Amino acid sequence: MKIIGDFLSLHTLQQSDHRRPMWVLTWLVRGYLLLLLIYTSLIYPFYVLQGAEHSIHFSPLFGILFAGVIFVCKMVASLMSSLLFGKKRQVEKYQRPPHDQEPAHILELLHTMFTRSQKAKQKQSQRSYGHNLYYSAKDLQKVGIHFKPSKTNTLMDVEFHPSIFYGTLKLPAITIESATESMLRNLVAYETAVSLDEPWVISYICFIDSLINDAEDVKVLRSKGILTNYLGPDQKVAELFNQIGRSLEPNTNVYNEIQREINIACESIWKKWIAEWEQTYFSSPWAFTAFVAASAGLVLTATQTYYTVYPISETYKLGFIGAGKMAESIAKGAAQSGFLPAPRISTSIHSNPARRVAFESFGVKVLPQNRNVVEESDVVIFSVKPQVVRDVVLELRPLLTKDKLLVSIAAGTKLKDLQEWAGHSRFIRVVPNTPSAVGEAASVMCLGGAASEEDGELVAKLFGSVGKIWRADEKLFDAIVGLSGSGPAYIYLAIEALADGGVAAGLPRELAMGLASQTVLGSAFMASKTGKHPGQLKDDVASPGGTTIAGIHELEKGGFRGTLMNAARTLATESFPVIRFFFLFFVSTASSLSGPLDLKMVIAMKLPRAREQRGRRRRKYHSRLRTDSVTRKVAGDEWLRLIMNKGEETRNSGRAREGPKIPTHSWDGHPPLVIRTYEYGPGEKVTASDKMKMACQFVQDSGISVEILCGQQSEGNSMMSYHYQTLSNEKFTEMLFLDGCFILQFLFSFLRKPQNLNIPFC
Ligand SMILES: NC(=O)c1ccc[n+]([C@@H]2O[C@H](COP(=O)([O-])OP(=O)(O)OC[C@H]3O[C@@H](n4cnc5c(N)ncnc54)[C@H](OP(=O)(O)O)[C@@H]3O)[C@@H](O)[C@H]2O)c1
Repeated sequence: MKIIGDFLSLHTLQQSDHRRPMWVLTWLVRGYLLLLLIYTSLIYPFYVLQGAEHSIHFSPLFGILFAGVIFVCKMVASLMSSLLFGKKRQVEKYQRPPHDQEPAHILELLHTMFTRSQKAKQKQSQRSYGHNLYYSAKDLQKVGIHFKPSKTNTLMDVEFHPSIFYGTLKLPAITIESATESMLRNLVAYETAVSLDEPWVISYICFIDSLINDAEDVKVLRSKGILTNYLGPDQKVAELFNQIGRSLEPNTNVYNEIQREINIACESIWKKWIAEWEQTYFSSPWAFTAFVAASAGLVLTATQTYYTVYPISETYKLGFIGAGKMAESIAKGAAQSGFLPAPRISTSIHSNPARRVAFESFGVKVLPQNRNVVEESDVVIFSVKPQVVRDVVLELRPLLTKDKLLVSIAAGTKLKDLQEWAGHSRFIRVVPNTPSAVGEAASVMCLGGAASEEDGELVAKLFGSVGKIWRADEKLFDAIVGLSGSGPAYIYLAIEALADGGVAAGLPRELAMGLASQTVLGSAFMASKTGKHPGQLKDDVASPGGTTIAGIHELEKGGFRGTLMNAARTLATESFPVIRFFFLFFVSTASSLSGPLDLKMVIAMKLPRAREQRGRRRRKYHSRLRTDSVTRKVAGDEWLRLIMNKGEETRNSGRAREGPKIPTHSWDGHPPLVIRTYEYGPGEKVTASDKMKMACQFVQDSGISVEILCGQQSEGNSMMSYHYQTLSNEKFTEMLFLDGCFILQFLFSFLRKPQNLNIPFC
């Protein structure tokens, strides 16, 4: 009766209900629920209903009637629970435990539905010391404890998950409205009346009462979806729980473990700091932006301070693999400019002991082996000749870890290959030139895939200490080699020619050389420092009717500009390094054999056409053939003139499409085609003309000018000529050129369509 009395006195309609939009409906529903509760609690306690349920065996009609009543009662309890938990988040569906007794009345049923959770029961049974919660919701939030709604809405489903820096408290989501207070008080009244061991509702109210001190705490829980407030201002909700909780005594068996863990988490100093940090810098996008900006500023300041205290020249060690002229000039430039102290530079001597003295004279460490240099250095520069760079890099590969910045100055060796040989792409390729020896190099660099901007900066500073450096795409490097790599040679030629002119005009040689060099130096300085266009500078010097313009006229007549342009352009041939290699290889191989050339080939072939590339190459070829420089250079050499004329003839007749016609020898029955020296007998005339055609075709297909091929060939002339002492220089050059071109063209053809060839060597 006490339960019913409490319920009746507390669960009455409020005056304020008429302000709610659906107040009539609410009134009716509540009235209905009230009547049903009284009805089912007073007149039809469950044991009666249960008996009635059993009576279905005796009277089907009577049984069906009372089963309906039981169903209605359960619906009532469910509806009432929705008053507390809201429509979306219903309490767990009531399942009658197998050995539990049926609830005696609807209030008990309601209580059971609010508090049933096996999971929570297990957790609570682990420890049972008396712990109270000393922190409100906003205090918990300040130390980084987050709130989340539980998955189920039984009052027992309260969980706390601590972690190193944060914690998460899960609470059932409840709806607070005007009926909630009556509901809670009825449940409290029920628990008090039946003296439960674990009064969950009372403990829950006390727990929430601890979390809520004022409207701020309600706001925290509301913002996290734990509370839904239909009651009015947050302060009213705070007062509701404070009022009910004030007269209640929590049971020490319930929520103890959770309260203990929360208290421990709140006392963690780390959590406090982290939560403070998070709230200060992540509370709004502006605070976060300011934090990021301040952090970036701090990092930059720290970096700047670091490099001020330890400048890059202090931290890096530089090693040269290849102690040649370039290495010496770069090392000297870096040491003498103060960029890198000499003791931080090292190298090793390969075979020439004089190089040791050269390096040690300005303080560079000379180590026993290449591997010692790599181990010692942070930046490794490969300054060996291009033909050995591959072997050297491959040999050192195990030591070339990614923490070492690798640099190559080997002419014509591509980054792709260097990276492949080294096993990583923190590689930079640099094309310097010889004036680096006097600190006036013109260098260009290109960064490999894994080389950072800082790496680029470092190399720029290093080569900047011996001149100027630019950055460019690697595909321009061939053109760069033609201009700045070979450029010094053109200028030396110009200086020499100017000096010769001076001598011819009666000047002493020494004076003429000095004047010529200083004139070139001063002019270059003017062009570089003033930034004026060279044409403008030239116009400034050439006064009308004066001697300067007369001299310029002479130069123009001689094709001075065209000659220089061609010289710079001719090296920009992509295939040049490969061709040079083959050319020298075959010429050397052929020439090192004594007597008449022993390289004999039995050829049964039809030369393939390679139409696809021919048009492009023909254009290149003819543009070169037309150049004044080449024409003049070869004017005295009959055989070269012949080759050029052949090229011209081929172009005019359109036969270039066909390719040269080499007589077809079948494998059996015909004498083999023998490549011999140009000193051939009458029976070998056909071969000689074939060579000429093949050489002509090679020049056309390769796109390399005759001049360049001859220049490359001259490198090998001296070492090979002793085999051919009977030949004049001119004949010897001719022989090498034709044989070399013949073999290369043969290979070209073979590589294009190997199936067209049948080449047994004998
Ligand atoms: N010179 C230029 O104007 C210029 C311009 C641009 C680029 N480059 C490039 O710079 C590089 C060096 O040119 P450089 O003029 O300085 O040539 P260099 O004077 O001939 O120097 C090459 C050095 O490499 C050494 N060497 C050879 N094999 C070696 C090995 N297996 N291990 C260690 N060292 C080895 C040689 O030693 P030994 O003499 O004792 O055998 C020599 O001291 C070349 O790749 C070149 O293409 C040069």
